[in-house]
Amino acid sequence: MSDIETLEQELTAKIAGAETEAALEDVRVAALGKKGVVSEQMKTLGKMSPEKRKEMGPALNGLKTRIAEAIEAKKTKLEDAALDARLATEKVDITLPVAPDVKGKIHPVSQATEEIIAIFSAMGFDVVEGPDIEDDFHNFTALNFPEDHPAREMHDTFFFEPKEDGSRMLLRTHTSPVQIRTMMNEKPPIRIVIPGRTFRCDSDQTHTPMFHQVEGLVIDHETHMGHLKGTLEAFAKAFFEVDTVKTRFRPHFFPFTEPSAEMDIGYERVGNEIRIGQGDKWMEILGCGMVHPNVLKNCGLDPDEYQGFAFGLGIDRVAMLKYGIPDLRDFFAADARWLEHYGFDALDQPSLWAGLSR
Ligand code: DAH
Repeated sequence: MSDIETLEQELTAKIAGAETEAALEDVRVAALGKKGVVSEQMKTLGKMSPEKRKEMGPALNGLKTRIAEAIEAKKTKLEDAALDARLATEKVDITLPVAPDVKGKIHPVSQATEEIIAIFSAMGFDVVEGPDIEDDFHNFTALNFPEDHPAREMHDTFFFEPKEDGSRMLLRTHTSPVQIRTMMNEKPPIRIVIPGRTFRCDSDQTHTPMFHQVEGLVIDHETHMGHLKGTLEAFAKAFFEVDTVKTRFRPHFFPFTEPSAEMDIGYERVGNEIRIGQGDKWMEILGCGMVHPNVLKNCGLDPDEYQGFAFGLGIDRVAMLKYGIPDLRDFFAADARWLEHYGFDALDQPSLWAGLSR
């Protein structure tokens, strides 16, 4: 047997005998490291006669490759075995009943969303959702934002890298694009609410880069401001769980509604507590208006035949108000103690008949 064959047998046996990744690494260094046996053999090639080198060169290179491959294969085997061992000890039996001291809580944003849906469902609204990643057409153009209008900038939009044709996708800045998606695909009458995530590049005590909105849209033959006000006042009473609520509609501008308004609700501060519905202070809670004729046209609806109203409400904001949560950023800090304090029981589904929040 040649020296090379003997060496290969020895090394192969050592590789097979290595029981841990550390032991295998020792074998690798001893064979292929700078001062390893194979490397030392390679160094002797330079001193050989050309004929000998012609014979030994390929033989040694072959040895080196085979040993490296054997080490790599053994390494994968050891890693797989280590992973299997870990998986066996870390196994979780998900069919076990929940331990009495481990109790999940519903996040106030989820709770408020469910409450809002319960209220509008009772009024005959359907729930519709849309994509978080939008195009310029649905988020702005179809909603009657003029090209280059400052309102596009006002939204502090997160844009993606431009595509080959120069267009850019974006993270939707509001839930209003789902109005467009619905009107383009469904024939009125339409009566929907659209809950979802929205994104703007903004962060302070009352703003986070991701937040939540509920959009409302009603389209029918004879829809007017009276329907809008009645619906939103009924909503405010139900949501804040008060018998009366003072509301005020202030003229405002949105490109997609005409006329447009912001709805304020009356409140008073008693010590640290905010009482909704009474008092002489006003707080803005949503934007609303009659759907702009251009928006109807952009969706293929005839403004002489159909009218509608729409509104957009910040879910996080009303959840903060209703549940007395001072800092919006805490909503997304994923702090289990915070959730334990502000969270809701998973088995209490909000409904109008059983009470929204108990
Ligand atoms: N999309 C608006 C925003 O995020 C909110 C809004 C205002 C929605 C008026 C509407 C509406 O549907 O009619 O600022």
